[in-house]
Amino acid sequence: MMKASMVLDRAYTIGRIDPRIYGSFIEHLGRAVYGGIYEPGHPTADANGFRRDVIDLVRALDVPVTRYPGGNFVSGFNWEDSVGPRDQRKHRLDLAWFTTETNEVGMHEFIDWCKQANTAPMYAINLGTRGVEQARDVVEYANHKSGSFFSDLRIKNGAKEPFGIKLWCLGNEMDGPWQIGHKTAVEYGRIANESAKAMKWVDPSIELIACGSSSSEMKTFGDWELTMLDECYDNVDYVSLHRYYGNPTGDTRSFLARSVDLDSFIKTVAAICDSVGGKKHRKKKLNLSFDEWNVWYHSREQDNEVWKRDKWGRALPLLEDIYNFEDALLVGAMLITFLRNADRVKIACLAQLVNVIAPIMTKNGGGAWAQTIYWPLKHASEFGRGTALRAIVDTPVYDCKDYEGVPELDATATQADDGSVTIFAVNRSKDEPVHLTVDLRGFAGLANVTHQVLHHDDVNAVNTEQNPGNVRPVTGNGGTLDGGKLDIDIPALSWNVIRLSA
Ligand code: AHR
Repeated sequence: MMKASMVLDRAYTIGRIDPRIYGSFIEHLGRAVYGGIYEPGHPTADANGFRRDVIDLVRALDVPVTRYPGGNFVSGFNWEDSVGPRDQRKHRLDLAWFTTETNEVGMHEFIDWCKQANTAPMYAINLGTRGVEQARDVVEYANHKSGSFFSDLRIKNGAKEPFGIKLWCLGNEMDGPWQIGHKTAVEYGRIANESAKAMKWVDPSIELIACGSSSSEMKTFGDWELTMLDECYDNVDYVSLHRYYGNPTGDTRSFLARSVDLDSFIKTVAAICDSVGGKKHRKKKLNLSFDEWNVWYHSREQDNEVWKRDKWGRALPLLEDIYNFEDALLVGAMLITFLRNADRVKIACLAQLVNVIAPIMTKNGGGAWAQTIYWPLKHASEFGRGTALRAIVDTPVYDCKDYEGVPELDATATQADDGSVTIFAVNRSKDEPVHLTVDLRGFAGLANVTHQVLHHDDVNAVNTEQNPGNVRPVTGNGGTLDGGKLDIDIPALSWNVIRLSA
């Protein structure tokens, strides 16, 4: 058995954890909306057509914020199409996903769903085909009380009270040539800045997210952030990061090491933000919104078949990745990485929430169930609140195809406001458990340990409608807590939640 150690001390902290790092994302894409959150006629549908079974699974995740309506979709979207009498809403071709959007679910319906699902909306505006005018108008519609054209239109459309949308994304992945209305960094920086000014003049209480790179693998990564922030630094609050990983070659060790890459991506973007702030002599610091992250690769071939069969269809089964056990381990390691960077990552959205690269799957007319990746998100959202501790971890390391010195044990810890401490840990070893010794100095009084483990003997194991509990957390061995020292065995290939309380 390998050996690792961890030191935790109240004085070693990273910072407060912003609960919004447990956010998610619903795009008008595939069956995320239609057949996902919304399916009138479904046995569990409420009076508005929202599936209660899905809402229950979302509520159990406790998702503080949900990004909407895209994604690539938003770069061709007219928000005005999505409000007003439903039978008069326009059906539009969606050039991002080659489907037809009926706008049956729009802004008001989404806000209603957010209330049911106990989440706050994070709304993206279209900076692909549109500009400053619609940016101003949509904030007026959503957030202005009354007495102006758009606020009165909202009232006429049935919402007397403003929606009070706090978080706004200034477009989506504008660095990507696949984006409708793709821009250079200067073009984007200018339009983001001018939109930001107008939006904040309408409602100074909102927070704005500028589009960073759509991946650290973009050729323009780095230069994009430097250039566009030079234009809009003063008027935005966050920079976005997006990253998806895959394992098409079945190399588990390299796949599980991808969170090392994630960490360096985060640190690089934070450094770029600070260098632009420094160059401009600003006291203001920008924080990070990691508003798309996940594993994404299982469904790529299937999507091409769907488009061959049914281009411009409605609610097509797109991006329906069926997640296996090893995907859950990487998702766990990515969450650990966000916690370790809690001083800069203030928002993160698992992309996405239902059916589309999602922790929750549904069958039209049938059940809803939790995929493997649901579990680490649920655990982190439930127990990873409060303060992120700076855990000092000493662990054996390994080398793999893309990385050297990868920790066998990826672990961190948090302290909740009730004083309890939670350790999150992934053992990346395929066959060796790790014996972890934790020095709990300064945490006198912690006397109880509980241990939950997510493990499966088969890295390819999945959950299905018929067998939704195939990959699920179980109670672990718990270890021993004695004189401020915890000794615990972390099984090979496992996600662990170790809770220490008084
Ligand atoms: O989440 C799926 C897609 O991935 C989003 O629409 C886009 O922003 C990203 O490329």
